[in-house]
Amino acid sequence: LLEIREIYKKHAELLNKELELNGWIRKRRDQKNFGFLEVNDGTFFNGIQVVFDDSLSNFDEISRLSISSSVHVKGVLVQSEGKGQTFEIKAKEITIYNKADLDYPLQNKRHTLEYLRTIAHLRPRTNTFMAVFRVRSLMSYAIHKFFNERGFVYVHTPIITGSDTEGAGEMFQLTTLDLKDIPKNDKGEVEYKDDFFGKQANLTVSGQLNVETFCMAFKNTYTFGPTFRAEKSNTPKHVSEFWMMEPEIAFADLDVNMDIAEDMMKYIIRYVLENAPEEMQFFNQFIDKTLLDRLNGLVNSEFGRVTYTEAIEILKKADKKFEYPVEWGIDLQTEHERYLAEEHFKKPVFVTDYPKDIKAFYMKLNEDGKTVRAMDLLAPGIGEIIGGSQREDNFEKLEQRIKDMNLNEKDYWWYMELRKYGSVPHSGYGLGFERAIMYVTGMLNIRDVIPFPRGPKSLEF
Ligand code: 4AD
Ligand code: MG
Repeated sequence: LLEIREIYKKHAELLNKELELNGWIRKRRDQKNFGFLEVNDGTFFNGIQVVFDDSLSNFDEISRLSISSSVHVKGVLVQSEGKGQTFEIKAKEITIYNKADLDYPLQNKRHTLEYLRTIAHLRPRTNTFMAVFRVRSLMSYAIHKFFNERGFVYVHTPIITGSDTEGAGEMFQLTTLDLKDIPKNDKGEVEYKDDFFGKQANLTVSGQLNVETFCMAFKNTYTFGPTFRAEKSNTPKHVSEFWMMEPEIAFADLDVNMDIAEDMMKYIIRYVLENAPEEMQFFNQFIDKTLLDRLNGLVNSEFGRVTYTEAIEILKKADKKFEYPVEWGIDLQTEHERYLAEEHFKKPVFVTDYPKDIKAFYMKLNEDGKTVRAMDLLAPGIGEIIGGSQREDNFEKLEQRIKDMNLNEKDYWWYMELRKYGSVPHSGYGLGFERAIMYVTGMLNIRDVIPFPRGPKSLEF
């Protein structure tokens, strides 16, 4: 169908030519001695109408085919006389791969997204999820394209790690030990020396510390892969397994970091608008009527930038009652983030220079001794989609932060050494890939933008 899409653009090079198509039946309508199938092979958002009549030897069988049956069609592409499509295929022969069972759950009616989550193995066949997952694929490609065009090296950071990047204690542990006889020391702590790795092993919460090591060799680097967080929060924007894209840039301060993040976001949005127009039109019609206006406006405007301290002032002056009281030092809650992006700035906004006590140990301490060179990008409708910072590049200051935050210094010796051998100012960030997809598609629940969502008590597929 991709070829046919080209025809829609170029007008009819294949017209009146014979062609063959493999695909699945999305709809079927029939009259007495002829009928219509909508067949889609997945290469393009819209299916194509296939007209068949009783000149086919298996006409009766085709007339009874259920939705989702798989077929091979031979026919001629002709201009359609009916409304709703420009072209259709006049079938000369239709062979059947498989007749779908009649209890196929996705008959032609609208299903709720909640219901479709319970059949995640079938939902890619619906319009909504075809659109979501093609956009997801294009966004991933756009990210690689953006960074490769700028000479960044893609680093495959490990999934299994021995340290906690964020120091937030939200890691899934891996063990080969039998849970009932895990050895404990006198203090009652688990002894991992007999375990597979000889120490505590976790699924990574971020590739940052590892990619920083490559940044000190290649200057411009990024990692992009799955990350895991054992957060119990059951919210529309948290999952236990998600994809994160993390650039790490040497000789760059926080302003350069924000410039790259902003350019990247606009690049991805433009790429999707250009390369998935049918899907984006679909989202605009069925998911969020303001989506295209919003995105088109965004690529031609500047994101907001504000310090945390200024943001707190804005929130205090807001004529709105927040559930979580606002005062300097609090971690911004989703309601605060959304107020800033949606109601105050009315566009994505970077908040910088957060209090050090609510941020990770590796962030560069500001002169004031109270705040760090952090930046979060807050997006309307979602809240935080990017978290990043300039990194602490001074050995002593970093060591002090690790101590102050009661982290285990032994775990970070190699990370510390980067500050001993040719340390330079450097910065980076993590884009929550699913949250970015939500932003670009207008989808409201993170479980609907990842193929098989993982969360508390959720591991079906
Ligand atoms: O703000 P976070 O925790 O930052 C880091 O992990 C840094 N090491 C990144 C870096 O500087 N290289 O996470 C980054 C982003 C968040 O802004 C959010 O979009 C996303 O990851 N994220 C989640 N997405 C889905 N489900 C979760 N449970 C998420 N936790 C974070
Ligand atoms: Mg964060």
